[in-house]
Amino acid sequence: MPADPSSERQPPSRRIHAVGRALNDLVVRFPWMWPLVRGRMRSYFEGLAADWDARTNAGSAEHLAALAAGLTAVRPAPERALDLGTGTGEAALLVAREFPQARVRGVDISPAMIGVARAKVGLDPEGRIAFKVADAADLPWPEDSFDLVTGLNMPPFFAEVARVLRPEGYVVFAASWGPETPFYTPPDALQRGFAERGVAEVARGSAAAGTYWVGRAAAPSP
Ligand SMILES: C[S@@+](CC[C@H](N)C(=O)[O-])C[C@H]1O[C@@H](n2cnc3c(N)ncnc32)[C@H](O)[C@@H]1O
Repeated sequence: MPADPSSERQPPSRRIHAVGRALNDLVVRFPWMWPLVRGRMRSYFEGLAADWDARTNAGSAEHLAALAAGLTAVRPAPERALDLGTGTGEAALLVAREFPQARVRGVDISPAMIGVARAKVGLDPEGRIAFKVADAADLPWPEDSFDLVTGLNMPPFFAEVARVLRPEGYVVFAASWGPETPFYTPPDALQRGFAERGVAEVARGSAAAGTYWVGRAAAPSP
């Protein structure tokens, strides 16, 4: 028996895992179909927001280890970072801790998730960390806005990530439980999808139960 059973993650059921994987594959292979499933995805996560942190052990070493390992490849430190599918904000908060000079934005399609994330930062007069309801397939920023884009347990919206990434900016996608994660994209698929948009692999690996992939956008043409 663990000392504190409330800190144990509740793994997703086989059905949830299968549905999550199917949706992830759809985003990777047929991104134009995303608008057909967006509403159902939002409703599903709306219902999970209140107990997401307890259910997934969000913010624990297990949850964040793979993303943290991927972030060690990011040099120089970013000035502007974006976390996609931020949920309750723990990955964005990790990025903010790792890169204290960076302005960090976290987006999610679920207003309830964003509500939980906002409550963690409270009033931030300097606006260094902020959370916003937005779709990773249609981001409300112009191109070249960020020098780091992260996604933890989140499907990769390749085209939109590449669009908002600055030249020589980094992408870090991580899955806390590797292939056991419902939203898991194998590293070869991440490499292919980003390479087609000018983002080359610089690292891949594993940490704790999770996996990560790191890419970097090309330098500006002379
Ligand atoms: C599996 S959860 C992961 C949340 C968080 N990153 C974590 O690891 O705890 C996936 C999150 O992505 C969000 N999401 C899914 N598709 C999205 C999209 N196109 N744009 C923004 N958020 C999205 C969901 O609402 C959900 O909060």
